Amino acid sequence: MTLNGPDAKAYQTRRDALLARLENAVLFIAGPPEAIYANDVHYRYRPDTNIRYLTGFEEPSSLLLAKGTSDESGTTMFVRPRDPDAETWTGRRAGIDGAKAIYGADHAHGIDEALVVLERHLRQADTLYFAHCLDRSINERVMEIVHRVNLERPRTGASHVVVADVRALLDEMRLHKDAGELDLMRRACDVSAAAHRRSMRSVVPGMSEFDVEAMLEHDFRRGGCSAPAYGTIAACGDNATVLHYTQNDQPLTDGALILIDAGGEYGGYCADITRTWPIGPRFNEKQAALYDVVLAAQLAAIDGVKPGATIDGLHEIAVRVLVQGLVDLGLLTGPVAACIDSTSYRDFYMHRTSHWLGMDVHDAGAYRVNGEPRRLEPGMVLTVEPGLYVGPAVKEAKGYEGIGIRIEDDVVVTSTGSEVLTSGAPKERSEIEALRAEALS
Ligand code: GLY
Ligand code: MN
Ligand code: MN
Repeated sequence: MTLNGPDAKAYQTRRDALLARLENAVLFIAGPPEAIYANDVHYRYRPDTNIRYLTGFEEPSSLLLAKGTSDESGTTMFVRPRDPDAETWTGRRAGIDGAKAIYGADHAHGIDEALVVLERHLRQADTLYFAHCLDRSINERVMEIVHRVNLERPRTGASHVVVADVRALLDEMRLHKDAGELDLMRRACDVSAAAHRRSMRSVVPGMSEFDVEAMLEHDFRRGGCSAPAYGTIAACGDNATVLHYTQNDQPLTDGALILIDAGGEYGGYCADITRTWPIGPRFNEKQAALYDVVLAAQLAAIDGVKPGATIDGLHEIAVRVLVQGLVDLGLLTGPVAACIDSTSYRDFYMHRTSHWLGMDVHDAGAYRVNGEPRRLEPGMVLTVEPGLYVGPAVKEAKGYEGIGIRIEDDVVVTSTGSEVLTSGAPKERSEIEALRAEALS
């Protein structure tokens, strides 16, 4: 059994950085239980992202880091014990010895012992850093333990355990990607961009949205991705005006555009790419006009990515270009500043322009610090994804009805500006139309 992703030493370095910040403190993360699809069939297991970030471990598990609260300081992993019968059915396990030998845990126990060991630590702790868990019953049980150890405190004169949010420590680390992480993100983005490119030069009328979905996901997997990073959107025609459309079961109609939002997950890191292009050989006049506005907004916002810029600032850049375009096309009545102030553009553009990207597609990291928009720094990775959607909310669509366009790239902040990780997916109209001509020839 080997680690998939950074080597064991990189994970140890991350844990050491966290441990250095724990003083009489415990950090506890309960991994999610396996989820049932139906009867005895399970969903594919996706480990807790923070546990994977700190250990590389991909099986169900929980994790505890501690300093000064017990003899068991350092890293404790709670894992499924070896079980030859179970492993025959559902796959190999590292087990308790493997958690130490392969994953570098200082201590390891069975997964069911996590809360007992946590309570032992909390009796000596000042602070519990806890990751609020999607499983409500785990949260309740952890808080019961905190309550119990605090009830004991008055007799000893010690202060109560303070519960703090793990994100204050961990999200900050995850927001800044190191060189090894950026290599994995480059790989996720290269494979995903190549898949988008291949779909542009392969899809023909007569296919359905699910053919496009299958083609992309086939390429992700063949490129070494473990899975799509999120539900693939392959939305033809006015389906593209439904932001989270994932039904993907309609035929592709000649003359319409398809909006594809799809990316693979490679070594635990996500790509997130959107491209919009014609099923036929060319964008028609209305489609081209709207596309050019979105592309101009996207290029302007990408140009704004540099140290010191903010995600709010990028959004403002994109909105200004989009609104100017909508006014020029007669879809909004100017002046531009008034449309921005009144937010009337939100009938056409109702989402934000960027989010953090990393191990999760909507990745960890605060968007504001001390009430102010966070300034970009080298090593942060974000998406830039403006769009325009002429859906039912638009009453005077002027021939643009049913058109939905989004263009999304993944960008890393560098010391001098930015690097677009997904430039392998074409977005200039001329380049797209050349690929469409190849597909249709
Ligand atoms: N694919 C999810 C997003 O673009 O945010
Ligand atoms: Mn996105
Ligand atoms: Mn996306």
